[in-house]
Amino acid sequence: MSLLERELLVVTGKGGVGKTTLATALGLLAADRGLRTIVVEMGEQARVPELFGLPAGEPGTETELAERLWSISIDPDRALLEWLQALGGRVSGRLLASSSTFQYFAAAAPGAKELVSMVKIWDLTQAKRRRGRSYDLVVLDAPATGHALGLLDSPRTFGAIARVGPIAGQADRLGKLLEDPTRSSYVAVAHPTEMAITETLELQQRLHDQLGRELDAVIVNGVLPQRFSGPELERLGPAPDGTANGAGGTRGAGGRGTSATAIRRSAVVAAHAVSDRARFQHNQLARLRRRKFDVISVPFQFAAKLDLAAIGSIAEHLRRKL
Ligand SMILES: Nc1ncnc2c1ncn2[C@@H]1O[C@H](COP(=O)(O)OP(=O)(O)O)[C@@H](O)[C@H]1O
Ligand SMILES: [Mg+2]
Repeated sequence: MSLLERELLVVTGKGGVGKTTLATALGLLAADRGLRTIVVEMGEQARVPELFGLPAGEPGTETELAERLWSISIDPDRALLEWLQALGGRVSGRLLASSSTFQYFAAAAPGAKELVSMVKIWDLTQAKRRRGRSYDLVVLDAPATGHALGLLDSPRTFGAIARVGPIAGQADRLGKLLEDPTRSSYVAVAHPTEMAITETLELQQRLHDQLGRELDAVIVNGVLPQRFSGPELERLGPAPDGTANGAGGTRGAGGRGTSATAIRRSAVVAAHAVSDRARFQHNQLARLRRRKFDVISVPFQFAAKLDLAAIGSIAEHLRRKL
């Protein structure tokens, strides 16, 4: 069953590894396959509409990006405030409007913000929503790993406090969605470095311990192409002295000399450095594959700025693998 054929697809990983980029690419791919899809960003940011050249809508509103593709940004503080306000008569509006009361409540009920945010996401997965359109797939561009695990654990952490009332039922239904492999899937995004891959293995363990779930796929993002074969590198000759082997750069390459030898020397240094790094990255991919992960590598995009066209080409690349 494809990752996209679920109600919810959670994209997680460290900050800056490409979660938003990949959540958008996955959204484009799903919409292209005929699924009505919404990409959910968390927090105050709304980068996805910007990628489509659209102004970010108000937090909590759905923005149409393309055919069958929408995005929304959910801010946990705001979601909690709205939820408290919706309790209506039970809590006075004036009391809530005071930020110290709000902060007090947020601190006294750990996991409440997360749960209320996740309930909003759960609502987006519902075929028949009380308000708003329905979606076939919700792609969650989750916050960085630690926070994401807190979100995913919220039905348990907060649900235990609120055993009664509407929130208890919601926590329960949300928990069922997150635990059911036929309804939700989890994807980790990681850079092809040793530390990032080690962290992904830890994430897998925590997901297993918390939810009894496994990562459905690991997307290794920013993989360099292997441009030269072994014999080709041999023909180039050994890297000149003082060059980096492994992850190093090409410092000193070029210099001021522009003689043919200097240029040739720089090219040889660069060829070896890139090749060493690509080899190292491919070893990290192999490390994941040995552990039977479904590994999807996404090439590094050589573009000054990753625009919609570049994200589209990542989606195209994913199409063959998903
Ligand atoms: N495959 C890629 N090739 C090149 N640059 C990338 C790639 N994926 C992401 N980026 C760039 O890396 C930066 C971080 O990506 P982003 O999706 O915002 O990460 P996150 O959401 O995990 O913080 C952005 O500038 C993005 O354009
Ligand atoms: Mg992001």
